[in-house]
Amino acid sequence: MPKEFTQKITIPGLQAKKEKKEKIVALTAYDFPVAQIVDECGLDVILVGDSLGMVVLGYENTIPVTMEEMIHHTRIVARAAKRALVVGDMPYFSFHLSEEETVYNASRFLKEAGAAAVKIEGASKKRLKLVEALIEAEIPVMGHVGLTPQSIHRLGEFRVRGKKVHEAEKIISDALNLEKAGVFSVILECIPLELARIITEKLKVPTIGIGAGPHCDGQILVFHDLVGLSNGYLPKFVKKYTDLYKIINQAVKDYREDIMTGNFPDDRYSYHLKSEVLQEISRKK
Ligand code: KIV
Repeated sequence: MPKEFTQKITIPGLQAKKEKKEKIVALTAYDFPVAQIVDECGLDVILVGDSLGMVVLGYENTIPVTMEEMIHHTRIVARAAKRALVVGDMPYFSFHLSEEETVYNASRFLKEAGAAAVKIEGASKKRLKLVEALIEAEIPVMGHVGLTPQSIHRLGEFRVRGKKVHEAEKIISDALNLEKAGVFSVILECIPLELARIITEKLKVPTIGIGAGPHCDGQILVFHDLVGLSNGYLPKFVKKYTDLYKIINQAVKDYREDIMTGNFPDDRYSYHLKSEVLQEISRKK
């Protein structure tokens, strides 16, 4: 394994990558084998995203995802990740009531689940105060602006954000305010690449894009989208590197066919009794 693949990724390490203009590579993961693969492939950040709700748990959107579900999956991923920085996504309504509850919920990602940081969506005035409170409690925070899926009911649809002047200016000031509040990185989701470039140039902390073009300091995708395991609509920004849905579908069909036709399990997949044992038990029948 190359030496750079064995060095543990830290938050200052991500900052250094921005300064050296070295790309940050991030991906989501939700279970042990996938987190192990992602870690072994030398990725820098594994986000246990609340996209979990849609790609693993079968919810229509991310709103129903609970703290217990996020802690459960983050703990599994952190167990597998030896090198990558694990970030736990704070689900809807885990950071909306009070500062105390937000800090408590976030602390669970570090204390119980083994994450190194949390991510929260949005940058309202109240949210910025919460970010400050989290950092005061030694909990590193990743911000998330542009398209914020937990706002789906307010936004009405998943679409590119920041195409109009007022929207673009709002996203720029959201990112800058998050940096001022102390986040170590900002996710830019589904915004025009020109806007992502401006934000990336303005921010000192790294930007990580998803549907935000090539100028971000790093990139992230949802694992299931990248490997073609999501069976449904995929946004334009997803590059599908393989079609696991098709591959697994064929494997399961072949398995069924083999059983129906008696091709499986044949001798290669079966055990034998010694002849004397067989004789003995046959006699006793
Ligand atoms: O939940 C998630 O996976 C995310 C990424 C899309 C950034 O927030």
